[in-house]
Order: sequence, then C-alpha cells, then structure tokens
Amino acid sequence: MSRRWELRGRSCVLTLAEDPAGLVLLDWSPDGSATPVTEPSRPTPFLPEVDRTRHLLPAAGVRQLRGVDLQVSTTTGTPVRGTGLRLRSVEQDGRRIRAYHVDDTDTVGVTLEVTASADHDVLTSRVTVVNHGPAAVVLDRVHPGSWYVPVADGVTTVDYLSGAWSHEFTPTSATFGPGCFGIGSASGLTSHEFAPWLAVRSGEVTRSVLLQACSSWRLGVEVGHGDPWARVHGGLTDQIRLGPGERHTTPASHGLACHGDPAPHWHDFLRGLGRGLTAHHHPVVHNSWYATEFDVSVDQQVALARRAADLGAEVFVVDDGWFRGRTSDRSGLGDWQSDPVKFPDGLGPLVQAVTGLGMRFGLWVEPEAVNPDSDLYRAHPDWVHRGPHREPLLARHQLVLDFGRAEVVAWAKDWLRELLSSQPISYLKWDMNRAITDTTAAPASWALDHARGYLSVMAMLREEFPDVTVEACSGGGGRIDPTVLGLSDVVWTSDETGPRDRLAIQHGFTRVFPASVMSSWVTDMPDLVDTEPASLQFRCLVAMCGVMGIGTDLSAASPEELATIGSLVRRYRELRPTILGGRLRWHGRPADPACAVEYADATRTVLFAFRRAATGADLTVTTESGREVAVRWELADDCDLVVLDGS
Ligand code: GLA
Repeated sequence: MSRRWELRGRSCVLTLAEDPAGLVLLDWSPDGSATPVTEPSRPTPFLPEVDRTRHLLPAAGVRQLRGVDLQVSTTTGTPVRGTGLRLRSVEQDGRRIRAYHVDDTDTVGVTLEVTASADHDVLTSRVTVVNHGPAAVVLDRVHPGSWYVPVADGVTTVDYLSGAWSHEFTPTSATFGPGCFGIGSASGLTSHEFAPWLAVRSGEVTRSVLLQACSSWRLGVEVGHGDPWARVHGGLTDQIRLGPGERHTTPASHGLACHGDPAPHWHDFLRGLGRGLTAHHHPVVHNSWYATEFDVSVDQQVALARRAADLGAEVFVVDDGWFRGRTSDRSGLGDWQSDPVKFPDGLGPLVQAVTGLGMRFGLWVEPEAVNPDSDLYRAHPDWVHRGPHREPLLARHQLVLDFGRAEVVAWAKDWLRELLSSQPISYLKWDMNRAITDTTAAPASWALDHARGYLSVMAMLREEFPDVTVEACSGGGGRIDPTVLGLSDVVWTSDETGPRDRLAIQHGFTRVFPASVMSSWVTDMPDLVDTEPASLQFRCLVAMCGVMGIGTDLSAASPEELATIGSLVRRYRELRPTILGGRLRWHGRPADPACAVEYADATRTVLFAFRRAATGADLTVTTESGREVAVRWELADDCDLVVLDGS
C-alpha cells in the first residue's frame, strides 16, 4: 500500500491507505491513539488477502468471498456482473476525502466521499456512481461504504434498537462469533421493527453507525473466522437503473467512534440537522386524537381549545377526522378538504376560535395514503402502488399512493399549498400508516423513488412555509432517520402513550435520537396495553422529558386534573431550553424499581425521577456535575421533578 490519509473530526481520526482497488481503513479511533489489534498471519492463496483488506468500498469484481457494497450489472451488449474497481486518484480538502475510481470495463465512474465534522465525531460517507457507457446499467447494490470495528477474541456484541408498532426502540443486543448479523426493512419505510442504527463496543470504545434510511434498507455486521475486524455495512436495498450519462448518489452512512456512551454525541449531531431549538418549532401542542378520534365537531374542538389555552398549550392540532368523508378509518383519505358535515362553514370558524385564544392552529394529514372509498381513488385508481395482475393489499383499509410518480407528487404539493394558504395553519402532523407492499417492475427502485417524492414534498413545506412546524409520524415511530429529522421539527415517537411503556420507548429512543425531536403527550388512563396505575404527575413528567404535548380529553378532566396539568405545562415551558438542548443522561432504566433522566446545561440541571410506588424504592442520583441528589418523591408517590441551579 502506498499513501496514507488522515481524516480528523473533533477528536476522532480515520486513518486510511490506498491500494489498487480503493481506500483501505487502517484505523478508526476516537482520539487518534492506535487501536490495539493483532493482525493474522499472511493468508495462503486459499484465503485471499483481498477479502481481509478493509476496503471502504468493497466491490463485486474485487472481493472474492465476502459481502460487497457495490455490484453493477450491464444489461445490454455482453452482460457483465460486477465491477473491477480501480482507484484513479484521491483528493483531500481539509475534512473531506474523495476517492475516484473507474471500473475495468470503463463503464462506470465511482466516487467515494467521506467527510468529518469539525464539531462532532461523526464521519459521513456517500458513494456516487456515473454511467459513462453507451447503454443502461443496473446498480444491483450500491451502499455508501463500509466501516470496520475491532473484534476481541472473535466475538462481537452488537447493540441495536428493535420493536414493533407501539413498542418501538427497545434496546437489544446480539453476541456472535464468526458470522453475519443483519437488521433492516423491506416496507419502503424505516419501520417500527428496527431503527437504522447499531453500535459495537470494544472495551471503552464504542463505534456506531446510523444510516439515512427513510425507505427500505439493511444494516449488518460481518466477521470472518479469525478476523480481528468486523465489517459494518448497510444502505438502501433498491436496485437502480442508470441510463447513459446518469448518476446516482447514495444516502449517507454516518459513523461515530467515541469513548463510552455514544448517545450524547448522536444527540449533538442530530440536533444540528434541525433548524434550532426555538419554542416556535418545539411548541406545547394539544392534539385531539386520544380525546375525540374521528368524531370531530367545531363546538367540541373549541371547548377543548379553550381549556388547552388555559393550560398553556401553544398550538391546537386537530388530528385525523377533519376532512371530507372521514367518519372512520374506512373512508376519506385522499380528499383533503374540510368535511362539509362537520365543518359546514369550512375550517375558518375553528381556526379563528383557536387563534383568538392565542394559540396556533394545526392539522393532521396523511398525504401518501388513500382509502378506496374516496373521490381521489375513484378518479385515479392508477395512482397507487400496485403490482401487475394483482389487487393491492389493504392495510388499515388504505392503499399507498405512488410518490415515485411526478403527477402524484405535484398533486400533493398543490393541495398542501392550497390548504396552508387558505387559513393560518402553522403546524402539520404528517402521518404514514402502513407499509408499501405492492410494487411494479424491476429494477426495483420503487422504495427510493417513493422516498424521494415524499422528501421533495417535505422540502417544499420547509422552503415555502417556513413558519409551519412539521411533526413527522408513521403510525408512531415507523419512519425516523436523519433525512426525516432534517426536514421535520419533531417526530411522534410511538402510538403507545401508556406512561411506563412510553418511558421505556423514550429510554430506547434517546439511545440515539435527541429529546428535542421527541414529541410526547400526556394522555388519559387507562391505556389499552400498559395498565399499571401511574399518577397524573407521572404521566405529565414522561411527556415533559421531550417536546411536551397534551392528548388528554380536557373536556372530561376535573378542576384538580386541569390544575395539575397546567402547573406542569408552565414548569415545562420554563425548563424547556434545558430539556431540549441539555446533555441527557439516564440513571437506571425504566424497568428498574426507580430510575431518573437528567438534562444538564450551563444554567441548570433538571431531573425527572420515576418509580413503582408499591416498591417504595429509594433513589439517589449523582448528577453529571457530581452532585448527589436523594429523590424525596414530593411531587407524587411515584415521581418527582428536581431542578438544581448552576452547572
Ligand atoms: C396514527 C398516528 C396517531 C393518529 C392516528 C390517526 O396511528 O400515529 O397518532 O394520528 O394515526 O388515524
């Protein structure tokens, strides 16, 4: 190997070398100190060295036995599968390295770009492929490059987040010897089942990878027998057709190497993707869903809004049920005008009542969905994702509009523009409630095409309606990744609001994602799933751990309950800058008899403490700044809020 290259983040260092096929990882260290690794003795011809070479972009046609990030097939002329990648040049410009490759058939040019952030220890890798040939090629696989992590004694432990609808973000671990580990989604959405993140611990050092993956994706770890390094690889699963002269750039793969817990590093990095921690885009909302579901009327919403305003809510959001024909989940999706029966004079009177109370007004929308029982579907049955010769599958009585089609995206932009211009609407909850199951032809880039359409509408909202706060939702936390975080302000973490389950979900969520995007509402007891009693204070404190909202049916709440919620909303608004921007640290886990979560910045430390009252468990916390706090359980028997001034 010839030249060496070094890419430095805030403290991390990626050390690379060149070989004829591309850049090779020599080390990936949190602080520049060399990782102690014993390399195996030189392989024989039966154990090809190239398979042990840590190419950042391993390609089919170079590697012989192991997995690859790039496989290109030519479909015309003499079909060739694979890419004999040859490194042409490497350029470094401060914190960015670009490696330019060509393929030995002169068909494609391939650029690997890795950038380091000066403010974080996150590295970002992307790959661009350009078709220089005279005919179309198919990118069977194109991933944004691999990461390599040291493996001690052949055993790897991977931490990741698994789940299901209403149970997202469960911290999970897998330990394995030589072999492969994989997570992913084939649904066109990030999924409730796995977040596109994993971490590998090597002693004190943790290396973790987060993918931009708001469609179908896979993320895996591969370690060979006797190999001291595991390869972490992943990307979208689409196959992409490139016509002559066309190019494709992958979504990014982010890698973080740090000492200890990676969570605060990911929080800092991901907070930076948003548009600041303003109260405007992190407001206290009242959301109608749990109070009124589909049964929406002007009088009943105005009654809720009056109480919400009294309690200090800043935005009043009417969830599902406001649009034409939406009497249940069986009809209406696609017809995005206010329902003439529920709103005989349009949305105006309700919007005016809400804004007259000093709150902003918001609406729930699900632009990618359509019920067969809708005027939109009757007019455009061809607009949905569907396979040939087969009726598409229904889920929640709805189908998915193909956002890969320009006319569908144009339609969505048009009605959203019209809706947002028709009234002072400055909050949208964008939902997406089902997997994409029915697809058309090969090569299969439907998931990426759909995601691009979705992201282009989100980008239009940001550009043309900068005052509109966007809450991203997918039946809860089904589509959360760095791209979505870059175009939304908050995300609805889960449909589960039972307080103990929700606390567990928030514990898992904040392993990666920051509290500043974690929308969380206090709702009524009893919950369908989480039936263990919890005080109203407990439920409010769980919501205060992120971007607090109210989903309680305030019309049915007692004066005492209203007073409790109101005083905690006021407290939350005072403490909000620390909760959104402070350093978050868990003390124990929600499954423990007692636990706490701490938020600390230069001005104060905020501690939310929770316990199972029946256990009478004591809790003493040593804060980030080294102060010992014995929780006194003053707010309620099962929870407490402690605020310490100064850092
Ligand atoms: C999804 C969302 C909920 C609510 C309903 C409305 O389940 O996650 O918050 O908006 O849809 O139908």
